[in-house]
Amino acid sequence: MTKRGCFITFEGGEGAGKSTQIRLLKAELEARGYAVCATREPGGDALAEGIRSLLLSQKMPSRAELLLFLAARAQNVETVVRPHIEAGHIVLCDRFTDSSIAYQGVARGLGRDSVATLNDFATNHLVPDLTLLLDISPEVGLSRQQDKNRMEAEGLDFHQKVRQGFLEEADRDPKRFRVISAEENIESLHAKIVQIVLDVLQS
Ligand code: TYD
Repeated sequence: MTKRGCFITFEGGEGAGKSTQIRLLKAELEARGYAVCATREPGGDALAEGIRSLLLSQKMPSRAELLLFLAARAQNVETVVRPHIEAGHIVLCDRFTDSSIAYQGVARGLGRDSVATLNDFATNHLVPDLTLLLDISPEVGLSRQQDKNRMEAEGLDFHQKVRQGFLEEADRDPKRFRVISAEENIESLHAKIVQIVLDVLQS
């Protein structure tokens, strides 16, 4: 592995199984001797987790919502993600900039390009080395969820726009993205993800 670590983000709609896959991948990479940090957005440290609980419980205007996601991201990047990358670790992040583009930019209608510009400011230009998009139809994904948070309670139309938003980002940046169907079983999805990640780490 190079001296600088590697930054891998997981994206996708509700119920795609990102957190399970991150847990399995972290264990697999650690067993192979890599140092791995797993984090999530919104979240990461105590302040960003505080913003998370506001975001997932309170109704608010879309612009306020976007800025809170971005504040949590700026915090997570500075205090968790960048220090681990600089220490040579692999950072696995459950959601990142593409979620803001798909949810706030596309589904909430704030505009893809405006959100991309604000993402760049919030992250101080940090771009993932690899983004795994776990693609799932909203019908299947939402049916997997039990206690719905504020986003998950949005209608099917909203979640279809989210999916479209992610797929358009993947089309824009095929070098960074790998799109994988999240409708297959946990083990085969895990095996595919391990293969993709090892290829990138060893390239
Ligand atoms: P979470 O319970 O973590 O959902 P999931 O397990 O599907 O990741 O809740 C995070 C919610 O916040 C999820 O509905 C997606 C949404 N979100 C945005 O709308 N914009 C963002 O920038 C981020 C990071 C998340």
